[in-house]
Amino acid sequence: MKILLTGICGFAGSVIARGLLEHVSGLQIIGLDNLCRRGSETNLEPLRALGIDIRLGDIRNEDDIASLPRADWVVDCAANPSVLAGVDGKTSAKELLDHNLGGTIHLLEYCRRHGAGFLLLSTSRVYSIKPLADLPVEVRDDAFHPVFALNSQPSSITPAGLTESFPTDPPVSLYGTSKKCSELLALEYGSTFEFPVRINRCGVLAGAGQFGKADQGIFSYWIHSWAARRPLKYIGFGAKGHQVRDCLHPRDLIPLLLKQMTGRPPPEAQETQNRINEGPPSAKDQSRAPDAQIDSSLSSLVPVESPVVSAGRNPREVANQTTPAIVNVSGGANSRMSLAQLSRWCADRFGPHPSFPPAPDLVSSCPPSSKTSESRPFDIPWMVLDSALAKESWNWQPATPIGDVLEEIAQHVGQHPHWLDLVS
Ligand SMILES: NC(=O)c1ccc[n+]([C@@H]2O[C@H](COP(=O)([O-])OP(=O)(O)OC[C@H]3O[C@@H](n4cnc5c(N)ncnc54)[C@H](O)[C@@H]3O)[C@@H](O)[C@H]2O)c1
Repeated sequence: MKILLTGICGFAGSVIARGLLEHVSGLQIIGLDNLCRRGSETNLEPLRALGIDIRLGDIRNEDDIASLPRADWVVDCAANPSVLAGVDGKTSAKELLDHNLGGTIHLLEYCRRHGAGFLLLSTSRVYSIKPLADLPVEVRDDAFHPVFALNSQPSSITPAGLTESFPTDPPVSLYGTSKKCSELLALEYGSTFEFPVRINRCGVLAGAGQFGKADQGIFSYWIHSWAARRPLKYIGFGAKGHQVRDCLHPRDLIPLLLKQMTGRPPPEAQETQNRINEGPPSAKDQSRAPDAQIDSSLSSLVPVESPVVSAGRNPREVANQTTPAIVNVSGGANSRMSLAQLSRWCADRFGPHPSFPPAPDLVSSCPPSSKTSESRPFDIPWMVLDSALAKESWNWQPATPIGDVLEEIAQHVGQHPHWLDLVS
């Protein structure tokens, strides 16, 4: 199997490239990146050293795409992933759309020409802001929790999160719209030109090596900034850090992407899963919720030399499947955290931060410098995605508990104390 992985030097792209190589023998990856994300250049040589053919090129440039060899699948991880892109004074709306939508069109043309399948990393940001901003919330344990009045809430949002049927009407942010339009075009191209399209709407991604900035990659940014004692502040919603996000490690996507590309039908995946589950759970697994025990096994679902990867290599065969084209993939309710809770975690791990002195009531004791009446465009109090459809259709669940994700970032801090200088 040959894969074209765009944005390969980015956070998700590099993690996915390494994970796919670990799990699939004989896999050929062609990588494409223009290295426009600061820090992405650090992945170039290490990935090349793994034998990956990485081309420096731009998805906005038709010629760069046209010169690429044929692949069976395109895994599209190239984008400007900031929800503030287009309004942050750094990137214009047009530039954002050129990258995130114009680039998609060129990749879809590539898929049409070569009959390749298309896998898009989309985003929770395709969901409408207004109903999310209007969601009644209460504060418990330094975090917003939605208040669900009996029978008055649409079934597309529950304590488990938003489902795929949650509205996607604008406004959703320019970024969200660029991804939503990419989704629509991908589905249209796939249907018209008969190639498979799979869209994975990711919640917040996090892990070691992410090029975290205040507006994107918040878990990495916050932990690195805390450890370096760089100024930090809560923004919006009373500036108490109560906004909640769930978090997913991108390596958890590997089993899902492999199933989507190889067309392994869910019942077989279930059999494999059942076999794996027959083994005794490790002590670590036992400390997790019952569902999470299944998750941890999933990350090793497709071993090297597994028949899984030799089956259904032809993307057109995969196109005949009845699995849904769009699924939410996210850490979910078990992996959610508010910024104030993340601050508590950081204080335990690294000691106090000057912007957030230790006190029993961390939030109310914040000095004025850490509070601001500023608000941030497109901010919402609570965003948790419900991945039940991915579980039902692909037997996929997140595998890495949020505590492990945060600890991985903390260890990366130890190895790269000046990471923020590199990425900002
Ligand atoms: N990080 C998240 O929390 C998150 C959440 C949901 C969805 N996503 C999606 O996942 C994908 C990957 O995000 P990420 O966090 O790895 O971002 P990233 O910025 O770390 O990686 C993106 C990579 O794409 C490259 N790139 C950007 N524009 C390009 C272009 N025109 N041509 C070639 N290369 C280009 C960048 O140099 C970078 O290496 C994006 O599509 C994003 O929308 C990310």
